[in-house]
Amino acid sequence: EETKAGVKGLFDSGLTSIPAIIHHPNLHLTPAPSHFSIPTVDLSLPRPIAVDLIRAASRDWGFFQLVNHGIPLATIDATISAVRSFHELPTAVRSQHYTRTPVGGVSYFSNPDLFRSASASWRDTLHVTFGPVPPELDRIPEACRAEMVEWKQRVREVAREVMGMMCEGIGVGPGRLEEMTCLEGTGVVGNYYPPCPEPDRTLGIVDHTDPGVLTVLIQDQIGGLQVKKIKGDECCWVDVKPVPGALVFNVGDLLQIISNDKYVSVQHRVLANSGEKGRVSIAMLFSPGKREDSDIYGPLPELMSVENPARYCNLKMSELLRAFFSKEIKSKSVIEVFK
Ligand code: SIN
Ligand code: FE2
Repeated sequence: EETKAGVKGLFDSGLTSIPAIIHHPNLHLTPAPSHFSIPTVDLSLPRPIAVDLIRAASRDWGFFQLVNHGIPLATIDATISAVRSFHELPTAVRSQHYTRTPVGGVSYFSNPDLFRSASASWRDTLHVTFGPVPPELDRIPEACRAEMVEWKQRVREVAREVMGMMCEGIGVGPGRLEEMTCLEGTGVVGNYYPPCPEPDRTLGIVDHTDPGVLTVLIQDQIGGLQVKKIKGDECCWVDVKPVPGALVFNVGDLLQIISNDKYVSVQHRVLANSGEKGRVSIAMLFSPGKREDSDIYGPLPELMSVENPARYCNLKMSELLRAFFSKEIKSKSVIEVFK
């Protein structure tokens, strides 16, 4: 029996155990040793220092928290509150937006990976594609429409600055990624993770890397996002601790390819939480807006030399997206596919 109330609807029904389809077998919820933490970058530092910090974080972690970026805390809080208010609308209103399988443009759904992965996750998502094709604004739920539109503009300004610094960090011109239209393919993803009655048996989001160039995320104070850290033979999951006002940046697969491994796209996941309140996170995704078959992306030629040959082949956006969504190669990351 199909429900249009999402995972939030399961939670509202008051169930005390989660359905078998949401169980994740072989979960290794090993905590990280406490001496690891995700780097923080202060954007108000002198530019060369900030560039160095961004370079080191993108190379060693694929993640960093950005502070003093110029977006007021009040704007961040208002965006999180608006997305929360959508996900907590009465079922009758919310369910009018719900689709089982995400479509382009504006979509509200649970578990886009349901038909590809062995199990579902404990999460609902409101996804708005902003570019290269702009959405019909009146299809964005009213509860968060103005805030989402404002948010994508604010984040784009900061992302332009940071992409420029990432370019400098690998020794290419600061406009290089922007010229490749990496600020034009954009989406804002408003995630909601209801409290879970059996948090040890499932995940909010399964281990994955982001396929695009760059992701910028805000989260509320609940926490649960973890980044995989591999050191020698050891592998652990490090918490991305909620920092009020911080923007969490992470490198996507295509940026690892473009930078020829100078920056890394790192696995991350979200734990299910057992608290009283649903967790909200909002990710803004950036990838190239130019997606014709004549638009080719790959390791930047200026990074290549005899000692440093290209580690990946050139690709079209259609091939990248097919690799990400295809069932057969789901076990491999996109990075492996284009080696
Ligand atoms: C994601 O990785 O797509 C979302 C992470 C989060 O909710 O913190
Ligand atoms: Fe992600």
